[in-house]
Amino acid sequence: MQRNWIAILDFGSQYTQLIARRVREQQVYSEILRFDTFAAKLGGRRPAGIILSGGPNSVFEKGAPLCDPALFSLGVPVLGICYGMQLTAKTLGGVVKPGNHREYGHTQIEALPGNRLFAGLPSGFSVWMSHGDQVETLPEGFTVSARSSSCPNAAMSNEARNWYALQFHPEVVHTQHGDKILRNFLFPICGCAGDWKLSSWVDETVGKLKEQVGNEHVVLGLSGGVDSSVVAVLLHKAIGDRLHCIFVDNGLLRYGEDKQVELMFRTKLGMDLYVIDAKARFYAALKGAEEPEQKRKIIGREFIEVFAEQARRFKDCKFLGQGTIYPDVIESVSPLKGPSQTIKSHHNVGGLPPDLKFELVEPLRELFKDEVRAVGRVLGMDAELLDRQPFPGPGMGVRILGEVTAERVALIQQADLRVQEEMKKLPGYKSVWQSFAILLPVKTVGVMGDQRTYENVCVLRVVDSIDAMTADWTRVPYDTLARISNRIINEVRGINRVVFDISSKPPATIEWE
Ligand code: XMP
Repeated sequence: MQRNWIAILDFGSQYTQLIARRVREQQVYSEILRFDTFAAKLGGRRPAGIILSGGPNSVFEKGAPLCDPALFSLGVPVLGICYGMQLTAKTLGGVVKPGNHREYGHTQIEALPGNRLFAGLPSGFSVWMSHGDQVETLPEGFTVSARSSSCPNAAMSNEARNWYALQFHPEVVHTQHGDKILRNFLFPICGCAGDWKLSSWVDETVGKLKEQVGNEHVVLGLSGGVDSSVVAVLLHKAIGDRLHCIFVDNGLLRYGEDKQVELMFRTKLGMDLYVIDAKARFYAALKGAEEPEQKRKIIGREFIEVFAEQARRFKDCKFLGQGTIYPDVIESVSPLKGPSQTIKSHHNVGGLPPDLKFELVEPLRELFKDEVRAVGRVLGMDAELLDRQPFPGPGMGVRILGEVTAERVALIQQADLRVQEEMKKLPGYKSVWQSFAILLPVKTVGVMGDQRTYENVCVLRVVDSIDAMTADWTRVPYDTLARISNRIINEVRGINRVVFDISSKPPATIEWE
């Protein structure tokens, strides 16, 4: 069991994951749980402290998410943030006032002396507010610990019970001393040890995997991406040649990716790897399909079928390894994310047919993406592989607009290769979220030497982003743009024009399909 950990109850704030990150940055393990987790269940796991996140609701709304009031009887320190503060007040008998207008952005607060959460901080500093309602009357036993001109109770605490609440967000960078406030909560107040390290996580996880798998075998779908690659290396460390990796070459990969995967996992790491050449099958299935969702569905369906066929060869395997990471888990458990409209149907390993009954092994379930990369580094994996840009499951299938054919794949792979080569030379390459080429089913007239050409258009898409939810086009230096364009037009036969996409997300998306 994890000791010294912090439970974060999620009331739907866009910052909940950020709170978890901030806590882990202090080397304290944290986990995000449903807002309605029972106190008895939580108490059994002995967290060192509980944080109630913010959220989009008002405590007055019908159906607003509430916590189990018994949380406040566990004898564990509690920190309520924004909605978490209003909920603390409401639950413990205070009065919350509905907001007439939203307060959003920087606010100067005055921190009052005698509050352990603000120990060592100046008396005035700037914080980030984002709220409508606010606490009007404090619950019994609480005193006000910070105020601002528009919010007389900007923070409150009951020092005797170790209950603290903030109307502002200490987890966002716009709040001055936010990290110090969180440190005050984690260390003097909760008594955390601050000894959670990824290297010890790796040792512990390898131990747990050995225990979970015993003498059985594991089959793993390797995509060549960061998550499944790290899972492969972790599992290989734990169970050696009882790990069997399947890599499906769907013919929609980046240039040379199949060879890279073979070189890395079979030759260098000595894993039992099966490379399945399913190119022809995918191209046949995609023949005539032009509509993006139809193409995505075909690619997803074929993948499951090919993978299932291969996995059947390992029927004696008890386990299926998967590269599920923490954000996938939170998205699938969060009760507050209602049925949002499907913009694009994302495709990863979906449901296998019912005759294939594997138990899942998902060692990365508790890690964020950058922690997965850090684990890879602890495991000695290549930086090149770990720092790879995201690549969509349907691959070039959604980067070739209209019908996908073997010829078009070859064309886009060549263009994309040149984009990668030139972008990697940029000093700022690491901060670019994605850079790639898209092939348009459009021909334009050009001139080469004395010859008229009539060939395809290729789009260059380069974006900056933090989480792919929003993105802006990268201000790529003109010289780099020029080199990419020259190289593609001169070296890739079949493309005579390169254009640069200057759309942000929203309203556009990162991929074109
Ligand atoms: P969009 O195009 O929706 O993409 O702005 C957001 C991010 O998701 C990636 N993407 C996918 N990743 N399977 C994946 O694993 C998919 O089907 C898929 N479609 C898009 C995209 O590359 C970007 O990083």
